[in-house]
Order: sequence, then C-alpha cells, then structure tokens
Amino acid sequence: MIRFPEGFLWGAATSAYQIEGAASADGRRPSVWDVFAHTPGKTFHGQTGDIACDHYRRWEQDLDLMAELGLKAYRFSIAWTRTTHEDGRPNQRGLDFYRRLAEGLRDRGIVPFATLYHFDLPQSVEDKGGWLNRDTAYRLAEHAQVVTGALKDTVDHWMTINEAYVESFLGYATGELSPGHQDTGEALAAAHHLLLGHGLSAQTIREGNAGKVGLATSLSPVHPMTQAPADVAAARLVDGVNNRLFLDAIFKGTYPTDVQERYADLRPGFTVVQDRDMEVISTPLDFFGLNFYYGRTVTGTDGDLPSGWAETPLSTPVERDLGARDVVRTDQETTVMGWPITPNVFTEILCRFKTDFADIPVYITENGVSLHDQVSPEGVVHDPERIDFLTLHLNAIHNAIAEGVQVKGYLTWSLMDNFEWAQGYGPRFGLTYVDFGTQRRIPKTSFHWYRDVIARNGLNPPLARPHEPDQEEAKQHG
Ligand code: FCB
Repeated sequence: MIRFPEGFLWGAATSAYQIEGAASADGRRPSVWDVFAHTPGKTFHGQTGDIACDHYRRWEQDLDLMAELGLKAYRFSIAWTRTTHEDGRPNQRGLDFYRRLAEGLRDRGIVPFATLYHFDLPQSVEDKGGWLNRDTAYRLAEHAQVVTGALKDTVDHWMTINEAYVESFLGYATGELSPGHQDTGEALAAAHHLLLGHGLSAQTIREGNAGKVGLATSLSPVHPMTQAPADVAAARLVDGVNNRLFLDAIFKGTYPTDVQERYADLRPGFTVVQDRDMEVISTPLDFFGLNFYYGRTVTGTDGDLPSGWAETPLSTPVERDLGARDVVRTDQETTVMGWPITPNVFTEILCRFKTDFADIPVYITENGVSLHDQVSPEGVVHDPERIDFLTLHLNAIHNAIAEGVQVKGYLTWSLMDNFEWAQGYGPRFGLTYVDFGTQRRIPKTSFHWYRDVIARNGLNPPLARPHEPDQEEAKQHG
C-alpha cells in the first residue's frame, strides 16, 4: 500500500466552456470559443460547447456525484463571459451561479479551487485585439477583481490563468485552438500578455486579501532522441519554448536568453515587453498548479528516423521552425489522442520544478487520459486503462514527494467526459461517462477505484492489467 501524506487533497478538475453549456443563460455573452466552434472546419464534426454537460443547470446533481466520489477538492473555472457585462459592470446572475456552486462544495466538505480564466476570452475583448492587445491583460485583472471581490468569503484557492503555453502557441502559432492564427511572432506576444494578465490578477488577489494565489501551467519534460549534439540542442530549445519561457518569467522575472535570441527577429514577438512587466509577472505565488499529460522526445535531424522510432502527431510547424521534430519509440504506448504515456518523466519534472524554480506547494491541477470509453450492454463503463494510467502517475507523484517536492494535492482531469476543444466529444477524459444525448452520468470503473484511493488515502498496486503497448488500438481509434 502506498500512502499519501495526511491531508493530501484528492480532487478532480473541469473548465467552464467544456462542461457548462447554457450558452446564453443569465446574460452570458459569447466567448471566442463559441465563435471558433461555430466556424465550419474548426472542431471535430463541427461540435460546440452550446450544451456540453449542461452543468450550468445540473450543477447540484454534479455536486452530489462529487460527494459520492469522496472528493476533497474540486477545480472549476469561472467564465469571464458570465461575470461581467461588456462594459465591465458585474453580472450578478452569473456571479450567483458560482456562489451557489462554491457554497455547495463547502457544504459537502470539498475545497473549491477556482481558475479565473481557462481559454474562454469574451468575444468583445477578442474584437479589440484579444491577447495581441496589451489592454486585454488589464481587462482580465478587472474580471479577477470582480470575481474575487464577490466570492472571496467562499473560495480561497485561486488560479489566475490556465496553460499560457497551450493558449498562446496552439491558439496563435499552430492555429489548432481559438483564435486559430498561425504566426509565432503573435504567439510570443500573446504569451507575454497572458503572463502580464496573470501577474496583474495575482496582484489584485493579494491586494484584496482574497486568498491563496497560483496558476495552472502545463509542463512537458523534453528529452533528446539521442545524445547527438543536434538532438540535444533541439530538445533544449523545445524545452525553452514549452517550459522555460513560462517558468523563468513567473519564477525568475526574465525570459530565457536562448529563446529570446532564437526569436529576436519575430514581430511583434518580444518587442511588446515593457519596463516593469517582468516584475509584475513574477509576483510571488502561494502555490503552483502543474498540469501534466506527457513528456516529449525530439530530434534535431532531418530525414529518415533510426529504426524503432516514429514521428508523432505532436510535431508542429513551430517545432520544425526550431529545427526539431517530436518522435516516439514505435513500441511507445499512446492515448487515443496520440499523447505518449510517460509516467516515468513526471517525477523528474516535479523534482526539477523544486530545484530550478520554486520550493513551494504544488497541486497537480490536471492529469488524465483520453479513451474511447463505451457503455457495455449491461450499462457499465469499464476503463482499466484509465486505472493503470492514474496508478502509474500517482506512483510518480509519490516518488516526488519522497524526494521532498511539496505536492499537496492531485486534481485529476476530469470529473466527467466533456468538450475536448477542437476534438469535440471524441476523446473521453472523465471518471464519469456522460451520455451527451440524454445527459445521463454513469460512473466508470475508474470512478469506483478513485473513490477507494481517496478513502484509503493511498494506492493498492498492482495495475489493473499488464502494462503493455497497444499502438494498434490507439491508431485505429486515432
Ligand atoms: C488541457 C486543458 C484542459 C483539457 C486537457 C485535456 O490542455 O487545460 O482544458 O482539455 O488539456
């Protein structure tokens, strides 16, 4: 039995646009995701979050589900499009929804972890330039002030923004996510403005004594395919863009020199950085939210790969511009989204965070696996692969705790199946199956397993099935 420290916060996570639906209820305004999802060709089968899990109406039932699971913490996000009107005035009806939710959590003994911004920029702000416009950072801080002012008596763990890397690089460079631009110079400017918005919001939360401040950042350890200098250099640069660009800014108040040099000619790029911005961005935090899905392996060479290696769908034009390609071993197990399953590097990134960036409390604010779960004729959803995935990752966290990393909680992605951005309702990440036709929730086998983990505050290995590659299965589904 692997035991976790006393008081470890076991949780689950979601985000507003991915679960709420009720797209125009109570004065909600459109976000960039409403517009993007309704643009033909942008999402899988044109799917949108108009209804999603209908959580805005079914929140009470969902709270009961969380209580049944025995959650100690729940991470949700607060839609900016619900909390304020276009002119910045508070929208009381929207704020009331989150108050009911947070109070409902507290009544059930669950600690609310609120993210102030999870990809869903109001379209009216996008129309003024979105994250390419410096002013958006100040508008985000206004939303942060309205929300934390209204809810600070019931929420005391705040995350300013979610995954600045994903939003800036997948939104502005690869174009996979909203707003779908393809310009690395823009991605850098968007990243800087997002980070500035984070810093300004963190200051607002501090000044208003609203509680503990953090943010959620996705990190992917990057390793070279071989020790050849070209591979090592490529891995270093990809690590710079994916990880250090954000961690150096937040914890050291600077951008990494190698990334700055590499992108020196891009516009607007780093030219948007103004005096004192880095001081704001590096406002001290109470905790770090780490989202972990996979580690990356890259090569810096062109041409054919050595036998036993294959290029992954994670390779993007941005990496290729850096002279890098993402690769995996051909026997590497991957999820239905093609993400490599790499629990081995999870401990490493946690230890590196403590050693190189900050020895502060860490919450794993997302970690989970996409599958193509199905309901059996008996009405059961059996997902042993998810149990294995979570077991391996929890083991990795346990090892990091043994190394002295202050991991205080684990909020798995996700409480329930939901709208997976450009991939729509294809990949399922939930512990709970959602039948999107009827909105019926069916706890999966992993839900029952997780409930036991929480109740015991520990893990009982071994795995649910032998851990072996199932590339073929992944390819068929992918
Ligand atoms: C992360 C996002 C989250 C979810 C997971 C699978 O990048 O923060 O909303 O979509 O991926």
